[in-house]
Amino acid sequence: MSQLSPDRQHRPADDPIFALNAEATRRRAAGESIVNATLGTLMDDDGRLLVLESSVRALHEVPRDEWAAYAPIAGLPAFQRAVIEDCFKGREAFARSATATATAGGTGALRHAVVNFLAPGDAILTTSFFWGPYQTICDEQERRVDTFPMFDAHGAFDLAALESGIANHLELQGRVLLILNDPCQNPCGYSMTRDEWRGVAELLARHAARGPITLLIDMAYYLYGSAADPRAHLDVLEPLLGKIGLLFAWSASKSFTHYGLRVGAIVACEPDESQRRALTNAFAFSCRGTWSNCNRGGQAMVTRLLSEPGLARACDAERAAAKELLMGRVRAFNARAIPAGLRYPRYEGGFFVTVFADEAESRARHMREAFGVFVVPQKGALRVALCSVPERDVPRVVEALAD
Ligand SMILES: Cc1ncc(COP(=O)(O)O)c(C=O)c1O
Repeated sequence: MSQLSPDRQHRPADDPIFALNAEATRRRAAGESIVNATLGTLMDDDGRLLVLESSVRALHEVPRDEWAAYAPIAGLPAFQRAVIEDCFKGREAFARSATATATAGGTGALRHAVVNFLAPGDAILTTSFFWGPYQTICDEQERRVDTFPMFDAHGAFDLAALESGIANHLELQGRVLLILNDPCQNPCGYSMTRDEWRGVAELLARHAARGPITLLIDMAYYLYGSAADPRAHLDVLEPLLGKIGLLFAWSASKSFTHYGLRVGAIVACEPDESQRRALTNAFAFSCRGTWSNCNRGGQAMVTRLLSEPGLARACDAERAAAKELLMGRVRAFNARAIPAGLRYPRYEGGFFVTVFADEAESRARHMREAFGVFVVPQKGALRVALCSVPERDVPRVVEALAD
């Protein structure tokens, strides 16, 4: 007889990505030549975790009491201010109306958004290709996932499909929580153009009066895109301030290469002070009811990296070198994948690319068995984590994908 409550008795055993990674690691340890393109952490060309040295130093310099003490429930005030400054860099209208709450990574921010902006049974709206844990977070909180086709026939972001998804949600559940992961979307690697962002802003403005609409931008990879200014899309979103809810899932995992530190924040922009206070309270309540408070030492470290000019400069320079390493892999992939006839969205940077493929499960199995190349099968696609593939192995990955 199971002691688990009936609705929890049939949870899947393991995250499929971690299970594939475990198999790749086991086969490599047994002496096989393996290319492991499953895990979303940036590895150097020797297969070691790439860690920004200035963040390691800042971590080791966190004083004893800063590590050992509890953090305030909603996070250290200096951390909250530093994250807001990092999100908006001088865009005063956003910064003035922002409230930030520390969360356990960007995942924690997504969790707080799902719980506080949707009623049980409601669905988030997101792109047809999306990061799998969106589904887990929704399942866990008794919410659902609805999607709209991400790309139109020309491979551009499908604004018409998004608009009909929004209209549908307003009609069916009376509210919308739209989650867009940009730039360098996981799993596609796609970064929206400024015109596509303008299109999103215009259609959200058109529907704003019909019911509560909230846009959450999942910015997990925002420092790895190819745009000169990673915050440029904020300019087209500014007219939405006060008309719709604007949320940002901020994460230190990729930006500071400290995935296990679990430092993140949910940032909300709301010009009305009493509504902003209600948001702050709701997020703090969720923190208390989920993990109580987050890693204080991690917040202290990230605060220094964001706000001490010398440290911030050193960290930016190291990140730029890491990004260039990744860009080399992106260029190597495009140089071979396009002539090989692989079909995939425009890819100009980021940890992942997704190649469209039917029978993805059996193709991924074939790639593992015949080529020793591990990728993640998804519905209608294969996700390739170039963040963990040295440039010299990219031709082998493309060959396996094209087989
Ligand atoms: C699309 C996306 N969003 C959010 C996250 C959250 O990461 P973390 O919880 O480590 O900040 C990830 C991590 O892989 C991601 O790929």
